[in-house]
Amino acid sequence: MAQDKPDPCSFIIFGVTGDLTHRLVIPALYNLAAGGLLPDKFCVVGVARKGITSEVLRRDLMTGLRKFATRPVDDAIAEQLLSCVTAIEADPKDPASFDTMRERLDALEQARGTGGNRLFYLATPPDAFLPITRELGRTGMLKENGMWRRLVVEKPFGTDLASARALNKALLELLTEHQIYRIDHYLGKETVQNILVLRFANGMFEPIWNRNHIDHVQITVDERLGVGHRGSFYDTTGALRDMVPNHLFQLLSLVAMEPPVKFDAQSVRSVKAEVLSAIQTQSEREALHNSVRGQYVAGKVGDAEIGDYRSIAQVQPNSTTETYAALKLTIDNWRWAGVPFYLRTGKALCTKRTEIAIKFKHAPFAMFRDTPVHQLSQNYMIISTEPTEGIELQFNTKVPGPTINIDGVEMKFRYKDYFKVEPSTGYETLIHDCMIGDNILFQRADSVEAGWQAVQPFIDAWRNAGADGLHTYAAGSEGPAKADELLARDGRSWRKLG
Ligand SMILES: NC(=O)c1ccc[n+]([C@@H]2O[C@H](COP(=O)([O-])OP(=O)(O)OC[C@H]3O[C@@H](n4cnc5c(N)ncnc54)[C@H](OP(=O)(O)O)[C@@H]3O)[C@@H](O)[C@H]2O)c1
Repeated sequence: MAQDKPDPCSFIIFGVTGDLTHRLVIPALYNLAAGGLLPDKFCVVGVARKGITSEVLRRDLMTGLRKFATRPVDDAIAEQLLSCVTAIEADPKDPASFDTMRERLDALEQARGTGGNRLFYLATPPDAFLPITRELGRTGMLKENGMWRRLVVEKPFGTDLASARALNKALLELLTEHQIYRIDHYLGKETVQNILVLRFANGMFEPIWNRNHIDHVQITVDERLGVGHRGSFYDTTGALRDMVPNHLFQLLSLVAMEPPVKFDAQSVRSVKAEVLSAIQTQSEREALHNSVRGQYVAGKVGDAEIGDYRSIAQVQPNSTTETYAALKLTIDNWRWAGVPFYLRTGKALCTKRTEIAIKFKHAPFAMFRDTPVHQLSQNYMIISTEPTEGIELQFNTKVPGPTINIDGVEMKFRYKDYFKVEPSTGYETLIHDCMIGDNILFQRADSVEAGWQAVQPFIDAWRNAGADGLHTYAAGSEGPAKADELLARDGRSWRKLG
């Protein structure tokens, strides 16, 4: 995180009574306050549609902070932060409430000396993104006259290619691209950002980062949790839409992009968009061939019993929504031609794991032919953010002893061992970046659309196939057995999860 103090500003949260605000946004603001990284002149405005006083809101936020903070809460810092919070009522269904909000904001900013810089954070369900932004636009609150006005848009950004394009178009009629911060909190994680440093600040990796040396790439984002109480949201979304065009593609783009000319937003975002648009768009037939989808049935994750996905409240009893998705993608460019990217993500699996595994090509075996060595272990580089943030190299070494014997070993780097840092949610980095106007870690309109373009054939093919090709897997397992075939037919296998 850059150690800059942001300009004075107001931080205006729509959906302040919601889960995201309590769980992630306020703890992130607290971490920034504790690190001395909030502006000297600062105010937080919590927008709710009805009936909340500043006093009640501060109390609720303090309760949330105590529950979700990522470090011990220092009362003095928390109270100082929360004393900056003011509740304002505004509902996009009641345009007059936005006119009132504008007047109250002007007065508040005058009193706090924040100079009119505003960060609007849309922590609401996605169907409220546009109605709120339209009201902000209509009342002139998005106009930049010597001060800045920025809008943070949460995920999901659209539900398919058409809706993402429509949302981009509508937003860009109200603001310019530089004002829009499409957030994906994965990008705030240290290891994710470190992919750029690993690749481009070291001389030894980039020369082998291509089809001549890399056999394939596996990207895994797996969870142990089931869908829980989010049946209504999840049943209309599914694993593919929920995870792939955003989180998994962010990881893919950082691993696969070309070196940017400069470490600035324009250059980095351009090469990321370029590689996403180079993902081969598959026909529906190819998409079916190159994918596996699954849905969990009752099982045990650790000691916890998890019921069938279909038994969750507000999930259709005959739902064909996938809780597991595995895809094989290819990137049509010079660097990656012929190198498959296998992606998998799912819920209620045996382990919580987020990793990128880069499998290097085998060394020639010829020189070991007349030794006791039967085979060489695989060479992997594993970049992981869950369960621990770090990087691991797997390579072959000689087993001590008089004869030549070879075994695979691991060399591990763990962030927490080297740097004694407090765990971060990723949100503090991103919120701080918004406040200092650095959008390098946020998605540009073209990247978002390129991501949806690549997954659209899978969405269409799965919708048209209905229950055909939907595989079940027991909660607590590694996912549907069918997913193994996706790699086995290429002579490869997934890394073990357990
Ligand atoms: N929760 C998470 O962990 C998480 C993680 C990543 C991304 N997200 C994304 O963050 C956003 C918020 O998530 P959440 O879980 O906090 O949602 P939520 O709890 O369902 O809703 C947040 C708040 O939005 C307000 N709201 C609801 N409908 C609205 C409408 N039509 N117009 C204006 N305000 C409305 C409600 O507050 P009032 O009734 O007080 O106005 C509600 O408390 C979503 O887009 C979600 O996809 C959430």
